[in-house]
Amino acid sequence: MSATPNPAAATEFAKGLAGVVAGTTAIASLEGTLRYRGYDIEPLARAGDFEEVAYLLLHGQLPTQREHAAFGDRVAAAARSLPAAALDALARLAAARPDAAPMDALRTGVSMLGLVERDDTPGDRTALLVQAERLLGQVPALLAAWLDLAAGRPVAPWPSGSLATALLERLTGRAPAAPHAAIFGTTLVLYAEHEFNASTFAARTVASTGSDMHSCITAAIGALKGPLHGGANEKVLEVLGAIGTADRAEAWVHEQFAAKRVVMGFGHRVYKDGDVRAKLLGTMCREMVRGTAGDALEDLADRVERIMLAAKALKPNLDWPAARVYHALGLPVNVFTPIFVVARMSGWTAHVIEQVGDNRIIRPLSIYTGAAPRDYLPLAARG
Ligand SMILES: CC(C)(COP(=O)(O)OP(=O)(O)OC[C@H]1O[C@@H](n2cnc3c(N)ncnc32)[C@H](O)[C@@H]1OP(=O)(O)O)[C@@H](O)C(=O)NCCC(=O)NCCS
Repeated sequence: MSATPNPAAATEFAKGLAGVVAGTTAIASLEGTLRYRGYDIEPLARAGDFEEVAYLLLHGQLPTQREHAAFGDRVAAAARSLPAAALDALARLAAARPDAAPMDALRTGVSMLGLVERDDTPGDRTALLVQAERLLGQVPALLAAWLDLAAGRPVAPWPSGSLATALLERLTGRAPAAPHAAIFGTTLVLYAEHEFNASTFAARTVASTGSDMHSCITAAIGALKGPLHGGANEKVLEVLGAIGTADRAEAWVHEQFAAKRVVMGFGHRVYKDGDVRAKLLGTMCREMVRGTAGDALEDLADRVERIMLAAKALKPNLDWPAARVYHALGLPVNVFTPIFVVARMSGWTAHVIEQVGDNRIIRPLSIYTGAAPRDYLPLAARG
C-alpha cells in the first residue's frame, strides 16, 4: 500500500483519473483481451447465456447445470416478485410523467426497492449475494412494468424462459425467434462487466462508505445514463439517423470534428486499438441482417467506421454495434441504455460485494485552484 501524499505538495494530477490504478479486482481484466474471471469474452459471448455469466461474475466460477437452473429460477422468481408498494408508486409516476425516460424510471425504481425492501445496511457476503440475485431479476421486470404503465396498460406477467428471452418478449410484446433471443443474450453478456468504468467506480465509491446495495446501484445507474458512458448506445442511432445516407457520412463526420463534438460509439478510455466486444458484435449484427433492409444501415455504419479510422484513428466501441442490434430487433431507442443497466447489474453487484469484502473508503485528493485566502465580512457589513 502506498503512503498518503501530502496534498499541499501536489502539483500534478491525472484529469479524469486517466491511467490511475485505483484498486484491485478479481472480476474482470482488459489485459490483451477482455476476460471475465479469467475466461476469454469470445466463447462467453458466443454462448450468449447471460445467467451463466452473471453467476460467474457473482459466484466466481461457471455454474454446473444444476446451479445454472437453480440460479435462473431464483432470478425469474425475483422478476415475478416486484413489491406492490413499489409498483403502486411507479404507477403514479407513470400516470404523471408517461414520457419520462425509462432510465430515470429505473434509477427511481431501484431507489424505491431499497426503501420498500428495507435495505439500510450492507449485510454479510451471503446477504449481499441474495440482494444481487434479486436485483438481477427485479430490474428487468421494473423496466418492463414501467413501459406498460407509461403506455396505460396493465403490467403483464413476466414470461418463462431465460432472462434474455423473457426480457425481449416483454419489450417487443411477442415471443422472440431463437436467433434473435441468442444475439440479444450476447449483447447482455458483452455489457455485463467492464472493470473500473465510471458507473462501476461510482458503485464502489458508494459501497466504500458503508452504504447499502440499492444506494450503490442507484448511483451507478445515474452514472451510466451519461452519453459519454452507457447513454452512448441511444445516441448512436441518432448519429446514424442524422447522417442518413453513406454519401453524406464524410461531410457529417468532419462537421462534428469542426464543432469539436465527439462521434458517439467511437473511442474508449482503455481500448486505444479497438474494442474486442465491438468487433465481435459488429460481425454478428451484419450476419443477422444480411439480405434484409438492415443491410443499408450496416453499409452506412461501415462507411462511418472507415472515415473515423482514416481521420482520427478512432475505432468503434461496443455501443456502436449494440445500438444497431437493438434497432434490428425492433426495440425503441429509449430502452437501449436500460438494457445496458439490466446486463451491468451483474458486474455492479459483483463489484459492490468485492469492495465490501476488502474495504477502505475511496477518498482521493484535489489541487485547490480557487480564491486566495481572504477575510470574512459579516453580512451586515457587506451592504
Ligand atoms: C469514450 C470517451 C469518453 C473516452 O474519452 P477519453 O479517454 O478522455 O478520450 P481520449 O483521451 O482517447 O481522446 C483523445 C482524442 O480523441 C478525441 N476523441 C475521442 N473520442 C472521440 C470521438 N468519439 N469522436 C471524436 N473525437 C474523439 C478526443 O476529443 C481527443 O481529442 P484531442 O486530443 O483533440 O482533445 C470518448 O472517446 C468519447 O466521448 N466517445 C464518444 C462517446 C462514447 O461512445 N462513449 C461510450 C464509451 S464505451
